[in-house]
Amino acid sequence: MNDVLPDEAELWEHFEETVRAWLDAYGYRNVRTPLLEHTTLFRRAIGEATDIVEKEMYSFVDELNGEHLTLRPEATASVVRAAVEHSLLHAGPQRLWYMGPMYRHERPQKGRYRQFHQVGAEALGYAGPDVDAELLLMCARLWDDLGLAGIRLHLNSLGGPAERLAHREALVAYLRRHEGDLDEDSGRRLHTNPLRVLDSKNPAMQQLVAGAPRLLDYLGDASLAHFEGVQAVLKDAGLPYTIDPRLVRGLDYYNLTVFEWVTDRLGAQGTVCGGGRYDGLIEQIGGKPAPAAGFALGVERLIALMREGDERLGSTVDVYVVNQGEGAARLAFRAAERLRDRGLSVIQHCGGGSFKSQMKRADASGAAIAVIIGEDEAAAGEVTLKPLREDRGQSRVTLDRLADAVSDLMYGEGPE
Ligand code: HAM
Repeated sequence: MNDVLPDEAELWEHFEETVRAWLDAYGYRNVRTPLLEHTTLFRRAIGEATDIVEKEMYSFVDELNGEHLTLRPEATASVVRAAVEHSLLHAGPQRLWYMGPMYRHERPQKGRYRQFHQVGAEALGYAGPDVDAELLLMCARLWDDLGLAGIRLHLNSLGGPAERLAHREALVAYLRRHEGDLDEDSGRRLHTNPLRVLDSKNPAMQQLVAGAPRLLDYLGDASLAHFEGVQAVLKDAGLPYTIDPRLVRGLDYYNLTVFEWVTDRLGAQGTVCGGGRYDGLIEQIGGKPAPAAGFALGVERLIALMREGDERLGSTVDVYVVNQGEGAARLAFRAAERLRDRGLSVIQHCGGGSFKSQMKRADASGAAIAVIIGEDEAAAGEVTLKPLREDRGQSRVTLDRLADAVSDLMYGEGPE
């Protein structure tokens, strides 16, 4: 679990602003759900035989009332729960988004944390491939908006329950024939969640998996048409993608379209976004049957890419107010507030110290201008202005003229 310190937080804020404008451009509306949910919600939605539910959830019993609770490991289940609980779909389909921390007790490593953040978009009540394609075009636009290149789209279709069942039988038969070659994890999964064997990171398993029956070959006409519908839009938009038959995702609620966006620049944890269609989940959680699709972005991983791009965001402080003496401090408060009335960002020096040390702070703050107030200025009700980033002389102005004078210095003298 990480602290985000101010230098890095600037990048987070830039990211969050970009993301809000981007979601707005696609008509997504914000939803905020609790960090805690009943444990059963995640067990049912994500699936008993998944890594998340088997070994990664922060679950506990509330001693006060015996309830079994879990810190959310993801938010799709929460959003669907909220939509069902508040009958949101009665008003028609919903495009919803969220941003916030998620919790998984994983083995920490670069790019994999126990508290991490996601931005998610969930389109509830949409059945067609058009919304799947829109979700993908959205992601591509965000990479552009963030100035990130080299994020590749991997796409697959998991079909429907009957198709998966038929494929599962063939897959289990294949894996049984090679049971002696399975590693421990895959041997266990053969009995609990055989589809996940396809997803194994072990190179030895990957070779075995290459010869396994492909789910894509078990898709019926309707599933294939849906998949082709998604691809047609991507082709029209000129968005490249790779069909990856081994892409199965680590959560059980998916059907039809699944996807991941991957980069080579983050080492082993290169997936910056994952998602897909989950047509059965709303009904499973107690709502009227309704289709849905969505994705979640890994914020830490995207921030790491942004940092790598050496994106430097300068300080946004405009003015630093240096002041010494009691009268000066009082005048400093009034001066700073007047400047803020103008929409400027102002740091007022607090805690005293020599002019020299205060000027050092002013310089380090990144401010464009120092407002200097000593005993002299205080007695006269005036302040001294000193541009910090260019070689221009100081000037002295009255409090009433201050805001105009600072604006002139910062933005040049506008038309009268
Ligand atoms: P997920 O693939 O489990 O999907 O997570 C989505 C993204 O969150 C990952 O691609 C990764 O970037 C990031 N992420 C996951 N775990 C960690 C971690 N331990 N540390 C850092 N980043 C992490 C879901 O959560 C689904 N709810 C996505 C979805 C929404 N599907 C449909 N709608």
